[in-house]
Amino acid sequence: MSALSRSAIRSSVTPVLGVLLLWAAAGSATADSVTAAIFEHAHLGPATCASSTCHGANQRASGARILLNEYSVWQQTDPHARSYATLAGKESRAIAAKLGLGDPTTAPACLTCHVDHPPADKRGEKFLISDGVGCEACHGGAEQWISSHVDSSRPRSATLAEGLYPTEDPVARAKLCLSCHMGTPDRMITHEIMGAGHPRLSFELDTFTWLNPHYEIDADYIERKGEFNGARDWGIGQGVAASNLLEILLDERRGWHGIFPELVLFDCHACHRPMSGNQWGPRPGTGLGPGVVRINDSNLVMYRHVLAVVDRAAADDLGQATRALHQATLASRERTFAAARTLRAKIEASLPRVAAHGFGPETLGQVLDSMLRDAERGEFRDFAAAEQAALAAQSVVVAFESARQLSEEEAGPLRSAVDRLYSTVEKEDAYRMASFTDALRGLRATAR
Ligand code: HEC
Ligand code: HEC
Ligand code: HEC
Ligand code: HEC
Repeated sequence: MSALSRSAIRSSVTPVLGVLLLWAAAGSATADSVTAAIFEHAHLGPATCASSTCHGANQRASGARILLNEYSVWQQTDPHARSYATLAGKESRAIAAKLGLGDPTTAPACLTCHVDHPPADKRGEKFLISDGVGCEACHGGAEQWISSHVDSSRPRSATLAEGLYPTEDPVARAKLCLSCHMGTPDRMITHEIMGAGHPRLSFELDTFTWLNPHYEIDADYIERKGEFNGARDWGIGQGVAASNLLEILLDERRGWHGIFPELVLFDCHACHRPMSGNQWGPRPGTGLGPGVVRINDSNLVMYRHVLAVVDRAAADDLGQATRALHQATLASRERTFAAARTLRAKIEASLPRVAAHGFGPETLGQVLDSMLRDAERGEFRDFAAAEQAALAAQSVVVAFESARQLSEEEAGPLRSAVDRLYSTVEKEDAYRMASFTDALRGLRATAR
């Protein structure tokens, strides 16, 4: 089977994508944070949504605007419904024991991501922690919109004002998913939790949005909520992840651990690799010398390629600001903070433009051109960056396939070219920049 299926992407993403493990204490949510929005109103519990006339139908409805079997889909196929049970399992107990946390099903460090966890005074009668990541963990506390949201004559903006979270908006959705799938200062996972055996977190917005869906995009959906674009979602996911990384780095409490910065913010391979030597070479995008621990810039690198499609000058500017951040880590914590603030502001300012851009079939060639320019100047010397690029090529091709922007004649050869690119990053120890660059050239030629 081709490596180019969504499940293949998911498993291949695991070893690399931005991995953030933060320390979970009962976090204080900042005014504009995801958790503040989700927990603003009381959570009534999934049982409230489950009646057979609401979202609890056994089968998808015909003729209705939505599927109406969302509850059954969630309960039967969605891992979010099992995430509390995960905490009761052997693996979780072993992790918690190593960390001295006691029972993981009551440890805030784990509950913060594995269940819907509004404050005690925001829990309705049917709310149960054991429901795991329920409807309101993503759609927001339903206290104010539970009765009104069924009235289709009301504008959506009215329901959003009552606390329904805008999951259809790609930036808002990326922030929501990444708050658990990467971590934020409110929901933290650290190198310590990782060291205790927690699986690596990996996330790609477009792929993950479509792994266990209880929604579908049809003409009616587009009319109600606007266009859905997989390539756009991939790009937005990269930008929000990069911004997230900087937000944690800028957090004096969560981003640092004693005399060290939180190690999960750095390239795992900078420390975890064999000591046989002679693997180092310069990467112009960082300007760092040998033997230096570098920030994991994989999402930053990918977002620069996304931005290159929308605005070349802004992308070059982002590249310079990323290099400035790497350089600042050699100077001082203050200089690092200043560079991270500048970079984050640039990303945040560009997100609405990227979200509004209509990524069409020409995007694939543009992204590949931008990556090839990097490759030709030695930017993919770093295994981690090369692997990210292969994943990016995969996601963009898949996004175009599922958006039916590629014909079958185009898709077949592209899949093989992506497989070939991917094979050059399959084994870290066997990685050669020259074969990667060659495969990328081949993919570029196929995409014409
Ligand atoms: C409150 C935290 C939280 C939020 C918000 C969240 N997730 Fe998750 N997600 C989890 C946890 C925890 C798991 C692991 C469940 C388990 O296996 O125990 C998970 C698992 C998944 C999986 C299954 C991954 C696999 O290994 O197969 C997918 C897909 C997924 N989430 C997608 C999303 C998307 C898309 C969003 C945003 C719309 C999202 N999640 C938002 C916590 C969250
Ligand atoms: C920042 C959010 C976050 C925190 C904090 C967190 N987890 Fe997770 N955990 C996740 C997500 C997301 C996944 C699913 C990863 C995937 O499949 O992509 C996961 C997966 C797991 C898995 C593997 C589940 C499976 O189906 O294979 C275990 C076990 C686990 N977590 C236990 C814990 C324990 C124990 C703690 C507390 C020490 C904890 N987690 C804290 C987000 C978190
Ligand atoms: C992990 C996050 C997550 C969880 C948990 C979740 N949803 Fe969703 N839901 C989404 C996303 C993402 C979408 C698609 C984007 C959109 O249209 O808002 C969506 C869409 C929907 C839609 C709208 C479909 C349309 O055509 O407009 C309904 C209805 C819905 N969800 C109901 C539920 C119910 C009921 C539950 C609990 C049984 C639930 N959701 C649990 C993330 C989630
Ligand atoms: C600055 C160097 C550094 C970075 C960067 C780093 N680690 Fe580590 N890692 C260490 C050290 C030191 C240990 C502890 C080894 C020990 O306890 O003997 C460790 C331990 C671990 C362990 C436990 C290994 C074991 O044998 O039990 C895991 C898993 C791990 N790291 C994963 C990661 C991941 C994933 C990343 C990237 C997100 C990462 N590390 C980034 C230095 C680093």
